[in-house]
Amino acid sequence: MAQFRLPKNSVIGVGKNYPAPAGAKDVRTFRIYRFDPESGQNPRYDTYEVDMASCGPMVLDALIKIKNEIDPTLTFRRSCREGICGSCAMNIDGVNTLACTRATEDVKGTVKIFPLPHMPVIKDLVPDLTNFYAQYASVKPWLQTRTPAPPDRERLQSKEDQEKIDRPAACILCACCSTSCPSYWWNGDRYLGPAALLAAYRWIVDTRDEATGERLDALEDPFKLYRCHTIMNCTEACPKDLNPAKAIAEIKKKIAERKH
Ligand code: SF4
Ligand code: SF4
Ligand code: FES
Repeated sequence: MAQFRLPKNSVIGVGKNYPAPAGAKDVRTFRIYRFDPESGQNPRYDTYEVDMASCGPMVLDALIKIKNEIDPTLTFRRSCREGICGSCAMNIDGVNTLACTRATEDVKGTVKIFPLPHMPVIKDLVPDLTNFYAQYASVKPWLQTRTPAPPDRERLQSKEDQEKIDRPAACILCACCSTSCPSYWWNGDRYLGPAALLAAYRWIVDTRDEATGERLDALEDPFKLYRCHTIMNCTEACPKDLNPAKAIAEIKKKIAERKH
């Protein structure tokens, strides 16, 4: 897939204005970032006035209404509409979040919508997550074992051991955390970022996994792990209330402990 970035110093222009239908009484204004890198044109904002009387409550409902009824060229990703797939992650009112779980009524004034920050843009609100997924794959997010599995049952875990991975395993890979992390903005090619590191942590603390040493070896690197400066933006951004910053600190602690 082609990699597109915003042209340097490009101006975000004011684009089209789509007024509300006549007679609409409950109108909200959505100002949405539009950019088609293949068009050769600079990005712009388009402004859409939406009649909320015939629109669902979430920002994603408004985006779907705009696409279906006002402007079919508007491009965004979504799938589950339930906060499970992570595909509708975007920046709404200055915050990285999921459009399907963000209520329009919780946003004051004009609803300003951008793609996730500091990522190449494929079109409009769709960032290119190729590097993000490659980083996830690089931590080998699957069970690695050396000993043979029990012949008559799965590899069991105690309830306490399962609880260690329960929250980290709830990550939906939406990228809200990584794209809110200043270290990731500037070193996203070499720093793995909070989402991939949370996934690494999930397997490091899995008591069934037998590759803990190799996993820690692979992360003991000035860029992959140690670019995290505990700024905590990631944890604040997570729409699933996960704590990647704590997971990163725990990985650093485990690496430090094994040196003693
Ligand atoms: S705690 Fe680390 S990963 Fe999270 S935002 Fe800060 S630097 Fe990034
Ligand atoms: S940790 Fe949270 S913000 Fe980051 S990718 Fe997972 S679900 Fe999204
Ligand atoms: S559409 Fe799946 S998380 Fe929003």
